[in-house]
Amino acid sequence: MPNSTIAGLGHYIPKRKVTNSDLEKMMETTDEWIVERTGIKARHWADLDTDSTSNMGTKAALMALENAQLAPSDVEFIIFCTLSPDYNFPGGGVMVQEQLGLDTVGALDIRNQCSGFLYGLSVADQFIKTGMYKTVLVIGSEIHSSGLDISTRGRNVAVIFGDGAGAAVLTATNQTDKGILSTHLHSQGKFAEELMVIEPSSTSRCRNEFSPERMFPIMNGSAVFKHAVTRFPEVIMEALAKNGYSASDISLLIPHQANLRISQFIQKSMKLSDDQVYNNIMHYGNTTAASVPIAMLEAFQNGKIKEGDLICLAAFGSGFTWASALIRW
Ligand code: UT7
Repeated sequence: MPNSTIAGLGHYIPKRKVTNSDLEKMMETTDEWIVERTGIKARHWADLDTDSTSNMGTKAALMALENAQLAPSDVEFIIFCTLSPDYNFPGGGVMVQEQLGLDTVGALDIRNQCSGFLYGLSVADQFIKTGMYKTVLVIGSEIHSSGLDISTRGRNVAVIFGDGAGAAVLTATNQTDKGILSTHLHSQGKFAEELMVIEPSSTSRCRNEFSPERMFPIMNGSAVFKHAVTRFPEVIMEALAKNGYSASDISLLIPHQANLRISQFIQKSMKLSDDQVYNNIMHYGNTTAASVPIAMLEAFQNGKIKEGDLICLAAFGSGFTWASALIRW
């Protein structure tokens, strides 16, 4: 049975940097409050004249392909993960397929919010392990900025999220000691309403008469926080146990960048050192499905991921859904 390896990573960060002091001009908030509660100092917002969720994903994918020394024509399947697609339907995967100039390769959209990229990675891994495909593109891309309530009313959510895209090219290898060792996926729909966007919804009788407030994200921040700090360590331990490892064996944990305080909780409860955990939420905010591949690329570029390392990815978010992946690099 072939294994899947990450052959190349890419990202796209929109140019416009929005600092906490920029947000202070839009709503009643302070740099101090945001840094203290989330660790975030800045995020990037897309330019809607030129950026779209799909074309940001395509740019990240092209970089990942270049880093893998592959051409778009090598891609056999596309998995696109987002909660903020260009259109309500069709999904962004087909847009990427067109933008990459691929003829009729399959494209699948995954709507799992913060854990989307990990669910996508798991699906790609299964396709490769069964021999169906040899080269699969997994993309996470988000434009949050156009859907946030940037008035004081929406400040508990608006300060957290940022825009960006990340991508990974997965390829098949016959090396048994390298690649994705296992993935672990979970969900608990009874908490669906703790972090959600209601509209556009098929349950609204007259879809063009819904109030704009129902299009903004609603979040019970403390409930999300409480579950996140339990589920992250749990799903990381599940991946380690499955492969006969313990927390001290992790070379680098790359958690979904939800909130720096959540990452610090995980680090402390799992007794990991600073060198074992990668965080970049300070610069980008929470980019949902894009956060893990963006952080993974940055960690790689900074020399924090080396051949032979044991890399753990984990995510938790809206759904609730959560997931982990253990990779021998
Ligand atoms: O990928 C998953 C995505 N979501 C998360 O990871 C979120 C997890 N949760 C959190 O990160 C935290 O719950 C938040 C950072 C969102 C909020 O922190 P909190 O400590 O739970 O604050 P809170 O919502 O309980 O609000 C505390 C106070 C309130 O004022 P009062 O009622 O005490 O007077 C809020 O109105 O802080 C106020 N507040 C703000 N003040 C300044 C809420 N947002 C802001 C803000 N600036 N941006």
